[in-house]
Amino acid sequence: MKRLDELVAAKLAQRKEQGTFRSLTTPASLSTGSEGQIDFTSNDYLGFARSVELKKRIAEAEKEFSESGVGSTGSRLLSGNSKLAEALERQIAAFHGSETALIFNSGYDANVGLYSSLGRIAKYIVYDELIHASVHDGMCLSRAELKSFRHNDVASLRMVLSELEGPAIVAVESVYSMDGDLAPLKELVAVCKEFDAAIIVDEAHAVGLFGKGRGRVSELGLEDEVYARLVTFSKALGCHGAAVLCNDNLRQFLINHARSLIFSTFTSNHSLLAVKCVYDMLSVHDYSNLNISRLINVFNQSIKDMSGVRKIGGESPILGVIVAGNAQVRAVAAAMQNDGFDVRPIVSPTVPKGTERIRICLHEFNTEEEVKGLIASLQKALKHVG
Ligand SMILES: Cc1ncc(COP(=O)(O)O)c(C=O)c1O
Repeated sequence: MKRLDELVAAKLAQRKEQGTFRSLTTPASLSTGSEGQIDFTSNDYLGFARSVELKKRIAEAEKEFSESGVGSTGSRLLSGNSKLAEALERQIAAFHGSETALIFNSGYDANVGLYSSLGRIAKYIVYDELIHASVHDGMCLSRAELKSFRHNDVASLRMVLSELEGPAIVAVESVYSMDGDLAPLKELVAVCKEFDAAIIVDEAHAVGLFGKGRGRVSELGLEDEVYARLVTFSKALGCHGAAVLCNDNLRQFLINHARSLIFSTFTSNHSLLAVKCVYDMLSVHDYSNLNISRLINVFNQSIKDMSGVRKIGGESPILGVIVAGNAQVRAVAAAMQNDGFDVRPIVSPTVPKGTERIRICLHEFNTEEEVKGLIASLQKALKHVG
């Protein structure tokens, strides 16, 4: 035991030396509200995680469904399934215009389940080079040959697919989590169609925001052109968990082969009720006058006037600026936190070396004044760090 623990300590020391040591922090902005820093970091884009209305609805739903227990008590395939889960899946599928939906305990579990199982019957998985870590972990558990294509580069995907023979899956995100840019979905779908590849779209950061909450696939009318979609409840929906949207064939395949679903206790009833309540609210949400769209414009406009700044994103609430170097980006984040803005440095190896960044997430509950204050603080911190 001592020998292993020494190795563990050595690994940690190495991270500290390299400036890549990670530790847990408690975000003041979420726990203390107005007294804490202003939230420019969480994925709570629409403010559902802090919504009093949602909390009230969940409490009411708990009373209405009082006969359902606390935990699900087992894997979905044993004692964990419920009428509540099945009804919720029908509600989610109908909302997103999908034949079916299958709930997973998290977006991470869903991607691991999807790619590990499908990747045992497909010959290839072709993925955007910036695809999320959960897809990588799923691919690692598959037996498929893995090929990457250049980020959002349709010609690069075409080139890769043209050299393959056999069934291929193509993995993309509709809104990239660390870069906030949008995938050229229509063009990617067309290339996949040409080569009979099955495209899977991770909509983790698009749900709730694009296509009246339904995601970018729905916004673009591509529901019948993609093989599967991943929607998470953990970002703009302010809850936890995820669903794969797909046809009944794939749903049954996942129930039979996705090990992250089969060998894990299913989501608690409380979580299912929370997701049901947020979908009830989402279906009547007013998308005609979103504050978040105005804030994205304010951010884009202000950053345009700052010279020598390498901006990230611009079309979604995930924005940011490149500050190369782990120490440098940490210093900028610390200075901004001191000014009362909760922003986080994204360091390498989470992003490639030289592209370290301050990641800024805008929210429906942020104000124009807060965004302007944030920009002023960023400008000051960048000048200071040089
Ligand atoms: C693109 C993407 N896919 C999947 C996930 C995983 O989702 P979850 O947080 O629900 O596990 C995330 C979250 O980090 C993500 O950004």
